[in-house]
Amino acid sequence: MDHEATRRDALDRIAAAQDLEAVEALRVAFLGKQGSISALLKTLGGMSPEQRQSEGPKIHGLREAVTDALAARKAALESAALEARLAAETVDLTLPAAEAPRGSIHPVSQVMDELAEIFADLGFAVATGPEIEDDWHNFTALNMPESHPARAMHDTFYLPDRTDDGRELVLRTHTSPVQIRAMLSQGAPLRIIAPGRVYRSDSDSTHTPMFHQVEGLVIDKGIHLGHLKWTLETFLKAFFERDDIVLRLRPSYFPFTEPSVEVDTGYAWVDGRRVIGGSGDAPGHAWMELLGSGMVNRHVLAAGGLDPDEWQGFAFGVGVDRLAMLKYGMNDLRAFFDGDVRWLRHYGFSALDVPTLSAGVGTPA
Ligand code: PHE
Repeated sequence: MDHEATRRDALDRIAAAQDLEAVEALRVAFLGKQGSISALLKTLGGMSPEQRQSEGPKIHGLREAVTDALAARKAALESAALEARLAAETVDLTLPAAEAPRGSIHPVSQVMDELAEIFADLGFAVATGPEIEDDWHNFTALNMPESHPARAMHDTFYLPDRTDDGRELVLRTHTSPVQIRAMLSQGAPLRIIAPGRVYRSDSDSTHTPMFHQVEGLVIDKGIHLGHLKWTLETFLKAFFERDDIVLRLRPSYFPFTEPSVEVDTGYAWVDGRRVIGGSGDAPGHAWMELLGSGMVNRHVLAAGGLDPDEWQGFAFGVGVDRLAMLKYGMNDLRAFFDGDVRWLRHYGFSALDVPTLSAGVGTPA
């Protein structure tokens, strides 16, 4: 075989190599110690100078061409292997998870999210306060001085410690102390809701020692009971997702509001469930007490650092657990805090089911 034929044959075989082992086998066959091209190179030693001058460049050129072809084929096979591996190992991150999500949102959290969403739309911010509260914020500033009988009504949990300035410490008995904290820290005007845990020494099927309230507070100029009623109606229509919410306002008493208003809502029994809606005076309907509210007492405004001749406001407090029970049809409050995963699986909400006004706040999971 002349060099040109050897070269064509070698390059054809290299181009036909299907894997890296085949390339390596060809390298050994051509360029290894016993290789055919290595053997050709050895023949140069036995040649005359003239012969070597004409044969040398051809044989070296042949070796170079084969070396380059082997390297190119090797690189091509390697990159093809990488491509194939990348294609095979592709992960489609848009596919749904193979396993169903495990956790769920507790109905109390869900309802709190719904409340925040509804009230945000009305321009309310969310405020918070400590669960371990001092008796000034929990009682005194809310127009319940030490001797006030309403203090006894709250079945308060007292802590053994006191604050540095000698105030008694309690587990807050309601979210109303956040009214005081918000007024003192933000001043007026003010529009807040304050959802959170509250504590009273009380326990039966409708009372637990810890439960949840949401406080509402609006402070501005010229605020009156009409604003309160409109706000509550708008909130309850959005929350229960029905337009036929009918409220009945009854005179009541809270030390921190004057006048104080107990708010009832009409409901009917449907399939053994209370369903909110309609007038309580309509056939088959009745009234149910839902929340406490009223115009913020002058003493409370003053304790919050505001001039009661300049500012007025209304406030309300609702049980969040109770709202959840009414909306989602649970009947035993204690189950809320048992931590039973079967109950949660039944009543819990998907973590992805974020309440929004546009999608409907809190469609059952
Ligand atoms: N704090 C009252 C309670 O726990 C509820 C309430 C709040 C009443 C605000 C009037 C105004 O019962």
